[in-house]
Amino acid sequence: MLFTCLLFLSYLCRISNSLDSLAVSQSIEDGKTLVSALGITEVGFFSPGNSTRRYLGIWYTNVSPVTVVWVANRNTPLENKSGVLKLNEKGILVLLNATNNIVWSSSNISSKAGNNPIAQLLDSGNFVVKKGQETNEDGVLWQSFDHPCDTFMPGMKIGWNLETGLEKFLSSWKSFDDPAVGEYAVKLNLSGYPQMMKFKGPDKVFRGGSWNGLSLVANPGPTYGTSPRFVLNEKEVYYEYGIEESSGFIIYTLTPSGTGEILFWTTQSRTQQVLSSGEQDQCENYAFCGANSICNYDGNHPSCECLRGYVPKSPEQLNISTWLRGCVPRNKSNCTNSHTDRFWKYTNMKLPDTSSSRFYETISLDECQQSCIMNCSCTGYASLNVLDGGSGCLLWFDDLVDMRNFSNWGQDFYIRVPASELDHGNDKKNMVGIIVGVTIFGFIITCVCILGIKNPEAARKFCNKHYKNMQRREVIDLPTFDFSVLASATGNFSTENKLGEGGFGPVYKGTLIDGKELAVKRLSQKSLQGLDEFKNEVALMTKLQHRNLVKLLGCCIEEEEKMLIYEYMPNHSLDYLIFGKRKFLDWRKRFNIISGIARGLLYLHQDSTLRIIHRDLKPSNILLDANLDPKISDFGLARLVLGDQVEAKTNRVAGTYGYIPPEYAVRGHFSVKSDVFSYGVIVLEVLCGKKNREFSDPEHCNNLLGHAWKLWTEDRALELLLDEVLEEQCMLFEVIRCIQVGLLCVQQRPEDRPDMSSVVLMLNGDKLLPNPKAPAFYTQIDVTSKANSSSENHKSFSVNELSITV
Ligand SMILES: *[C@@H]1O[C@H](CO)[C@@H](O)[C@H](O)[C@H]1NC(C)=O
Ligand SMILES: *[C@@H]1O[C@H](CO)[C@@H](O)[C@H](O)[C@H]1NC(C)=O
Ligand SMILES: *[C@@H]1O[C@H](CO)[C@@H](O)[C@H](O)[C@H]1NC(C)=O
Ligand SMILES: *[C@@H]1O[C@H](CO)[C@@H](O)[C@H](O)[C@H]1NC(C)=O
Ligand SMILES: *[C@@H]1O[C@H](CO)[C@@H](O)[C@H](O)[C@H]1NC(C)=O
Ligand SMILES: *[C@@H]1O[C@H](CO)[C@@H](O)[C@H](O)[C@H]1NC(C)=O
Ligand SMILES: *[C@@H]1O[C@H](CO)[C@@H](O)[C@H](O)[C@H]1NC(C)=O
Ligand SMILES: *[C@@H]1O[C@H](CO)[C@@H](O)[C@H](O)[C@H]1NC(C)=O
Ligand SMILES: *[C@@H]1O[C@H](CO)[C@@H](O)[C@H](O)[C@H]1NC(C)=O
Ligand SMILES: *[C@@H]1O[C@H](CO)[C@@H](O)[C@H](O)[C@H]1NC(C)=O
Repeated sequence: MLFTCLLFLSYLCRISNSLDSLAVSQSIEDGKTLVSALGITEVGFFSPGNSTRRYLGIWYTNVSPVTVVWVANRNTPLENKSGVLKLNEKGILVLLNATNNIVWSSSNISSKAGNNPIAQLLDSGNFVVKKGQETNEDGVLWQSFDHPCDTFMPGMKIGWNLETGLEKFLSSWKSFDDPAVGEYAVKLNLSGYPQMMKFKGPDKVFRGGSWNGLSLVANPGPTYGTSPRFVLNEKEVYYEYGIEESSGFIIYTLTPSGTGEILFWTTQSRTQQVLSSGEQDQCENYAFCGANSICNYDGNHPSCECLRGYVPKSPEQLNISTWLRGCVPRNKSNCTNSHTDRFWKYTNMKLPDTSSSRFYETISLDECQQSCIMNCSCTGYASLNVLDGGSGCLLWFDDLVDMRNFSNWGQDFYIRVPASELDHGNDKKNMVGIIVGVTIFGFIITCVCILGIKNPEAARKFCNKHYKNMQRREVIDLPTFDFSVLASATGNFSTENKLGEGGFGPVYKGTLIDGKELAVKRLSQKSLQGLDEFKNEVALMTKLQHRNLVKLLGCCIEEEEKMLIYEYMPNHSLDYLIFGKRKFLDWRKRFNIISGIARGLLYLHQDSTLRIIHRDLKPSNILLDANLDPKISDFGLARLVLGDQVEAKTNRVAGTYGYIPPEYAVRGHFSVKSDVFSYGVIVLEVLCGKKNREFSDPEHCNNLLGHAWKLWTEDRALELLLDEVLEEQCMLFEVIRCIQVGLLCVQQRPEDRPDMSSVVLMLNGDKLLPNPKAPAFYTQIDVTSKANSSSENHKSFSVNELSITV
């Protein structure tokens, strides 16, 4: 106690004793600092990383790890601790070394400083030299915010002062040991409609894009908890942000390796956390797909697609360098008939590079379209400002570069298409290809398959050679097993070999004579389908292959017996691990499980030929292989047994209480969004280690969903993790992100839940996620009478009975 008191006292003393300003001829030497009025920021000497050189810098007081946000003499270090900072009578800050030489100064022209200039460190981290006690802007002679280094802070402006020509931009450090100007820079480029760009040397590497009334098109800076603003007038053009809550800080740092890190901390914790560690997928690389094409990232691979009416520039060439050439118009209209051109609308787009665009703030979208059609070199248009339904106009000319497709944000973009192109209907001919990245021995080998128009045969051959499963539809070939073989492999389906009871029947472990292990599911119900359809379904399901699905090896159909044969998974199911042996699951493994299930589900919902809704997703249906990679099992079973009633209303409820969403439990309506709900419950269970239905919070009668929601609204989401072990080693932002994704998946209304492709992006990206609303079923409901009701009982409830029970 005494110790804490002393610490607190010394902290108070520090604030009251330290100065926040320098008057003329006062100085600070190495070892002393100036601290801002409320004790938030500090200016003084430091050595970065492992360097012994000394620099004058600004950092936030008592925040760990110490992050220097500004450096004065970044290119002219001091060799030892004899540096001194002084304010001279001309109002210039000078940094002197041991031999009294100036190594850095705030300005090289003497200003009309008037009486008593003063240098003051503000709580915002801005170090300001001003005339006497003047407090307004005019009194400012110099300020560090006009000369940013690698950090973008609240109140700082990135952009241009058009009157003085002063540009404010970020530039990275050379390395963590050396704050000298490094390779990367983030600047606001003024050509066309201003946009934020990241450069590596002279090359554009990433385009943060233009302001659309709400944010920058691709948000290079922080958005989470911040209020960004863009100002464009005859005096200034800049981007800045403020912090919405006063209890924390958010800053953006351009690291020496060029990633944009967003760091945050709260005034209580004072420990920095990385909120985001920069752009991640290849579609963020500037003009990854070349001109006139859209980059689309599916969570695993980027793919390029020509705009409508455009064709690949080099369809013959089958390698990555051809992508940079992009696409060209298939049939460019000449200017005499261009008034017959039409526009094709794309939604959820990152708008193309605006450097050769023109913008009009006051005209409407209709007028915008008219202006575009009138000028034959105009290739596309969009709203300038998305607020209130859209206003203003942006016009593009010639090539459209650096577009990408987002799944749930982005803007509407209209491209000009000759009328003749719209007759092509929905053909996919403008699809140029898929880029498949394969990791082999740690090297990423990227292959491009072009399903070209000019030479489809060559393309197909190439693809088939390299990726056997990509485009081929093989003849159905159903692996079948003999009943007698399975009976002897499972010791006549003995109870010792029973692995569990899943939906639709018991599962046995089987060992073939050659030692190969199998899992055999004996379907307890007669299928509603005919035998041929059943075989057909199983044959299709054996074709479903994804690293996060249990592989169906084949089936056995003999008289009344129907069995499905799966690969055997040595590490049990997820429920066994998360509710029992949690200590084996560190955060990496848990995150791997959460993302693996998402990828498997995405495959079932979208990418497979069958488009399967699982309908009984729960931890006991997620198996773990030897590496603890998750594999979804029992997929397609509902479809197999109940027939093909995709997105239908059914009164036969397959599924398990605690994992099914309200529209399914109450109205029997199911869709892919029902699986999303179950997925959300699993995510929260993996995080918390408690079953949704068994969780009880004595005070508030909440189940796990309710508990997670309560913690979320109280900003205590991390407390959902009950294991202290986990908290020490994990990446907090990743955990928070998972909790948020979990909550979004369990929303009451299916349309408020993201689809699995968004979930995959959300887990792996670092974009702002929507705010969850209260989840469905969040208070404890007495369902004890149905404690173990799962699909295995396979009762047909009437719709009414079920809703009363719930
Ligand atoms: C400092 O040096 C140590 C040992 O050489 C190294 O592990 C560490 O990464 C270095 N730190 C920085 C910031 O360069
Ligand atoms: C710094 O270096 C100078 C010249 O090398 C020397 O005179 C001075 O004493 C040194 N100062 C310190 C604090 O080591
Ligand atoms: C001080 O700076 C001057 C000019 O940059 C340099 O010539 C001199 O060697 C420096 N003195 C010390 C002690 O570093
Ligand atoms: C004075 O500073 C300006 C920018 O602030 C710079 O362009 C100029 O080269 C400097 N002049 C000298 C003599 O250092
Ligand atoms: C902006 O970008 C254009 C095209 O990329 C380039 O030519 C121009 O020099 C840049 N302008 C400024 C002010 O950086
Ligand atoms: C890719 O295409 C370029 C240009 O056509 C060619 O120079 C290069 O050798 C090709 N690379 C491969 C791996 O085929
Ligand atoms: C190209 O455009 C012209 C004029 O609109 C049209 O007659 C012709 O059919 C188009 N060609 C193709 C290949 O679409
Ligand atoms: C433009 O196209 C129209 C109709 O396709 C044709 O009659 C006309 O000659 C073309 N004009 C030029 C300049 O190519
Ligand atoms: C069309 O727009 C381009 C680019 O702004 C401009 O150079 C050209 O003069 C315009 N043409 C007409 C006919 O307005
Ligand atoms: C955009 O993405 C969605 C899914 O995220 C996809 O269905 C659509 O085809 C994409 N559109 C384009 C033009 O790439």
